[in-house]
Amino acid sequence: MEHKKENWGSRIGLILAMAGSAVGIGNFLRFPIQAIQNGGGTFIIPYIISFVLLGLPLVMVEWSTGKFGGLHGHHSSPMIMQRLNHHKIWRYMGSLGLFSSIVICSYYCYIESWILSYTIHSVIGTFQGMTEAETSAFFNAYLDLNTSTFGFPYDTFVCFIFCLVLNVLILSNGIANGIERVAKFCMPMLLVFGLFLVYKAYTIKAGEDGAICDGMTGIDFLWTPNFDSLANPKVWLAAAGQVFFTLSLGMGAIHTYASYLKREEDIALSSMTAAFTNEFTEIIIGSTIIIPIAIGYYGIDRVVELSQNGGFGLGFRTMPYLFGQWGPVLSALAGLAFFGLLFFAAITSSLSISQPFVAFLSESYEWSQKRTSLFVGVLLFIIGLPAILFFNNGVFDEYDFWAGTVALFFFGMMEVIVFSWVMGVEKGWKLINHQADIRIPTFFKFVLKYITPTMLITIFLAALFKPKNDDWSLLSFKGWPLDDSAVVAELMHQGMDPNNPNIAYINGARIFMVLILALICGLIWHASRTREQRILKQRKEAQQ
Ligand code: PHE
Repeated sequence: MEHKKENWGSRIGLILAMAGSAVGIGNFLRFPIQAIQNGGGTFIIPYIISFVLLGLPLVMVEWSTGKFGGLHGHHSSPMIMQRLNHHKIWRYMGSLGLFSSIVICSYYCYIESWILSYTIHSVIGTFQGMTEAETSAFFNAYLDLNTSTFGFPYDTFVCFIFCLVLNVLILSNGIANGIERVAKFCMPMLLVFGLFLVYKAYTIKAGEDGAICDGMTGIDFLWTPNFDSLANPKVWLAAAGQVFFTLSLGMGAIHTYASYLKREEDIALSSMTAAFTNEFTEIIIGSTIIIPIAIGYYGIDRVVELSQNGGFGLGFRTMPYLFGQWGPVLSALAGLAFFGLLFFAAITSSLSISQPFVAFLSESYEWSQKRTSLFVGVLLFIIGLPAILFFNNGVFDEYDFWAGTVALFFFGMMEVIVFSWVMGVEKGWKLINHQADIRIPTFFKFVLKYITPTMLITIFLAALFKPKNDDWSLLSFKGWPLDDSAVVAELMHQGMDPNNPNIAYINGARIFMVLILALICGLIWHASRTREQRILKQRKEAQQ
């Protein structure tokens, strides 16, 4: 058995890997779309407040508890959670970390494969001369398994498998040799590509190359704050959700990475550096690509309309066409820069989301890194398959909603409760400041104890029971009709035609997810028993 204790090779490597986990598709595709959907300047204040009062505290919780667990030989959420409080319930609560990470990773690798294909198509000039409608139709054709865009059958599928294999290969090289090296290469590359696109976006001029507004119009749209939004829970939900997603919170990824820190290493400075690097990339670079370019060519109203049903696909449907306005050479370059940047961002993130499961298996069963990576690769394939085969039936969105939104938010909430109330914020504060190179303001201790848990619980309840038409006036005595997008209403398929054939697929996806969660709980039970028996055996041997 080749099980050995792993650690990060260098501090810069650790920070780049952590920032690499956080900087992902969320920064360049999800953030701009969320910002546009929620009114631009209306979104930015709740977003920044959520970053400070929810994001930063949770970053501190995950880094400090991860390191603490790692010092006791634990590298995955279930065991780390149990280290904080010995009640078994926390071990099983930790299953949510493994659940979210493995499900998110399966569809994240799928998006990664779209990006890879789009990078290649941009370079070989596939999009040249395409109209707006043709570019959008190309995306549908790409997702359709029966149509090939590369000229060989099942190209979508082949690209997905290629990305899985790539992830497995990197993972099997371990922390310092695999993940850290990739992050050290990808993060600077991403910055170079990003800055090129930001420059292009800034210099868009109305009337040139078919643009109807200056690049600045989009930037103003985002940066003209609107204080009315502070009273709108829908915008708060969107902002808090984005903060969770972009900082990779609530899914065990940071837990696992932090568990490879050495005892004498600081977390205060490193965690803040990684979090602020992510924010720089998100609100400075991420927001200055899609928003000004799309608004420059389409105008604000059209972009708002497009974003309503855009999701992750919006960038794929529109950007290649817009780059096409810059002539063949620049459009190929911009396509390479945009999709290349997304690919570098995505791979460092997918590596971090698969690591919790890899760590769980290797710590529980003492498997080698190669064996666990391969096993996780196969698991990702099995879990990702329904999302690919039944993409148009809503399976992909169902994964994203339950694993990528609800479960991670709930898990994050539980983490803060354990940290601040079950284990106690005094002990937690000591963990955060152990060997710290900077002093985190004591104000955050208060935030961690009262503000973050209260905000998380309020937002969670608001999401569960969001009222119809966002009418929050509790004083109306007409009952509490739920909005179709309330979590409880989603669960009951409220607002869907009962004869809609997709309901069967959606229910299937839910049953599948419940089975995955049950399987993970079973594994945790089995792994804990195996571990206890091993420790007992070792103790006996030592006594003899
Ligand atoms: N933070 C990543 C992004 O912005 C997504 C992610 C989530 C990565 C969870 C790792 C873990 O795209």
